[in-house]
Amino acid sequence: MNRRYSRLVVPHRAGDGTLVALLWTHAPLGFDESAGDLVAFFREAAAARDAGDALRRRRVRFALTTDIPERDPLEAYRAASRPFAVGRRFWLEPGEDGGGAVPDGRIALRVPASRAFGTGSHASTRLALEALEDEPLSGRSVLDVGTGSGVLALAAAALGARSVVGIDLDPDAVFVARGNAGSHAFGASVRLYAGVVAACGGRFDLVVANMLADEILAEARGIRLRVARRGRVLLSGITRDRETAVLSRMRSGRWKLAGRRTEEEWISLTLERAS
Ligand SMILES: C[S@@+](CC[C@H](N)C(=O)[O-])C[C@H]1O[C@@H](n2cnc3c(N)ncnc32)[C@H](O)[C@@H]1O
Repeated sequence: MNRRYSRLVVPHRAGDGTLVALLWTHAPLGFDESAGDLVAFFREAAAARDAGDALRRRRVRFALTTDIPERDPLEAYRAASRPFAVGRRFWLEPGEDGGGAVPDGRIALRVPASRAFGTGSHASTRLALEALEDEPLSGRSVLDVGTGSGVLALAAAALGARSVVGIDLDPDAVFVARGNAGSHAFGASVRLYAGVVAACGGRFDLVVANMLADEILAEARGIRLRVARRGRVLLSGITRDRETAVLSRMRSGRWKLAGRRTEEEWISLTLERAS
């Protein structure tokens, strides 16, 4: 990460709206007033100096630091991360440069920690990966709702799914997921879009959604509508206290519970559509 920024600190002036308005005209990245000082951040050092000149003309004291290297807060985590096994088939590589040799019989999923959720370090992702291993995916179509880093979409493709669509309402996540798909040979069969389930057409043999219970409940109807006859839904991200609410919404009429896994306080549920 080579980007740099500048920081201008006006001591003891937090909440000073006049100064904020003045600095605002020099296009800062943003302000921080949490520690009692007024701190403005600038991408361009020249803009920060111009802002400093404006303060000087008003005899306002300030401290300016330019060319500060921008640190990615996840850089240290990635450097310290080690690959780990999930389920019977997967080998998760959360580090920057992959993880060296992949154990025999395992499939490497390279999903470095990023602003998109889904490195495999969370129980809800692991539960979904383990449940995916039990699905007969070869030649099937899969929709991954809330794809995040794309980890589950990539796993489905790696397990032989014919076509995989991943969607996320966060466009940033989709950007990350596309990058992750590009670093896997099987990523070519994964299509990733920003959006919600209502914007998807077609029906899928399997719909996966690792989202919080409230997010699942809000999308329950849309998720069921996208499932083909005799298709299945794999839900994860549900805490024990919300299981009943999710089950009573999803398991009605021709839907029956086909699988359940738990880890810590997290639960995944697989449901099957009878016809
Ligand atoms: C817990 S993360 C799961 C990421 C990844 N699939 C995994 O298993 O690790 C949930 C993701 O769902 C997305 N999301 C939440 N509500 C959504 C919705 N209604 N439609 C699409 N994506 C949604 C969030 O932006 C987030 O990226």
